[in-house]
Amino acid sequence: MIVLGIETSCDDTSVALVTDKGDILANEISSQIDVHSSFGGVVPELAARAHLENIDVTYRLAMQKSGVSIDDIFAIAATCGPGLIGGVIVGATFGKTISAFSGKPFYAVNHLEGHALSARLGNEKIEFPYLLLLVSGGHCLICIVKGPRSFEVLGQTLDDSVGEAFDKVAKMLGLGYPGGPAIQEYAQDGDPFRFDLPKPLYKKQGCNMSFSGLKTAVRLIVEKHENFNINDLCASFQRVVSELLFQKCEFALECCNNNGINISSIVVGGGVAANTEIRAGLSILAKKYRKEFFAPSLKLCTDNAAMIAWSAIERIKNGDTGNPISFRPKPRWMLGE
Ligand code: KG4
Ligand code: ZN
Repeated sequence: MIVLGIETSCDDTSVALVTDKGDILANEISSQIDVHSSFGGVVPELAARAHLENIDVTYRLAMQKSGVSIDDIFAIAATCGPGLIGGVIVGATFGKTISAFSGKPFYAVNHLEGHALSARLGNEKIEFPYLLLLVSGGHCLICIVKGPRSFEVLGQTLDDSVGEAFDKVAKMLGLGYPGGPAIQEYAQDGDPFRFDLPKPLYKKQGCNMSFSGLKTAVRLIVEKHENFNINDLCASFQRVVSELLFQKCEFALECCNNNGINISSIVVGGGVAANTEIRAGLSILAKKYRKEFFAPSLKLCTDNAAMIAWSAIERIKNGDTGNPISFRPKPRWMLGE
């Protein structure tokens, strides 16, 4: 069984073909970094226009690379939210159109479900339920994934997402967009304990998080100090973000233990899951709690259509027959809603 996936919720136009065995036949990604980098963040109107320009060629490339034809495809899956609505509409409409003319079922996929299940793409031995840390440019939450469409959110950010914090700090430091990879690179040569940055909600029980105070603290350092070492600041920021995430995951693990929820493993997903310090720390935490740790490959961490196709495949395997073509794209759409 082959599913066609389409992803256009932020700044990557992506089309993929994935089999029910988890083989990725194609996963074409047309990045818009050049469009948005001079603005230091994604400009929604420009993103929507770029998706419209790129979707057709990205689709053709994916079909060509995979060598499959429309007849070989079992279903079409497109991100229908949450995200920047102009882009979401482009991808959803493209998918619905293919579904309408081919007569294949349409799956309206929640982008967060895509990230939440991405580690299982090619690694179905990751058993439900598992603890998920979802850290992307638009979202930051901790939840128990009980099944392909069954999630229990334990906590989330009360303000900025982690990716947003990385991007905004990078913008302050003039490191360009996206900020995460740049900060990680600068942090490599820095002293992570040079700056004593605040850790909002660190000691507070529960899994809610906050990053805006941390971001403001970095801004104050940038404004106050003329000659600060940029590597040290990146390393200190990355350390504090990581410690905040680890602490909240530890609370989540304790919450599972106290409530008799036997999770199989700790899984991370979303663009920030590409961060090596965060991956390494989660792996250590998993060992401490005698759990396994899984992270998607780097290409499956950031936005891509393979995870969208896979999310539909998980639903199909669960007996889900899809959504009507009238499904309304949603700018906001929480996991499990
Ligand atoms: O999941 P994603 O591609 O898009 C959304 O769904 O939002 O995540 C993009 C975010 C950006 O904020 C980017 O700076 C961040 O992921 N990111 C990273 C790294 N690679 C990407 N953050 C920290 N370290 C990285 N290596
Ligand atoms: Zn994403």
